[in-house]
Amino acid sequence: MIQLFDTLSYPELRLIMQELYTTIFFMTSILFVCLGNICRSPMAEDIFLKILERKDQKADFEIDSAGLLDYHQGDLPDSRMRMYASQRGYQLTHRSRPVTKDDFDYFDLIIGMDNQNINGLMQLAPSKSFQQKIRLITDFCHKLRATEVPDPYFSGAKGFEYVIDLLEDACEGLYKEVGR
Ligand code: 4NP
Repeated sequence: MIQLFDTLSYPELRLIMQELYTTIFFMTSILFVCLGNICRSPMAEDIFLKILERKDQKADFEIDSAGLLDYHQGDLPDSRMRMYASQRGYQLTHRSRPVTKDDFDYFDLIIGMDNQNINGLMQLAPSKSFQQKIRLITDFCHKLRATEVPDPYFSGAKGFEYVIDLLEDACEGLYKEVGR
């Protein structure tokens, strides 16, 4: 075992240690994914974290978000998304990052916002078995009926409000499936 670790670079070792940790402590890890990782997926991340906080289950989960594009890497969420989020009590502080092949190994669930995201994730998955971790977020909606969370980037206020409405509904539904 020690010899095996000698052959691993630091990121690989870190990944293995993280996976061991989540397995030993029965943690569930969820990655929310959209295109730019500056509007929908950081919003979903914060909504789900708030639900976990309310249910006192933050320690049982690891939650993150990422984008299929690396164009906004390192950026805070879009200022409009942050403004509409703050009006509902969410403070978005995530920094955009691209989704990687390692994410498929690490996360239990990888949740896309629309069908374009799902197609991109299916192509990025290292193999067919990893594709089973991919889900569409609107499949968890239980009050609103929608087939995707539309990209609000080129929309006005209503687009952003609608994104939050859908994500609040979907994240409640997701929690009902994965919460303890
Ligand atoms: P998101 O919105 O996928 O919800 O973060 C977008 C943000 C930026 C771009 C596209 C979608 N963009 O093309 O820069």
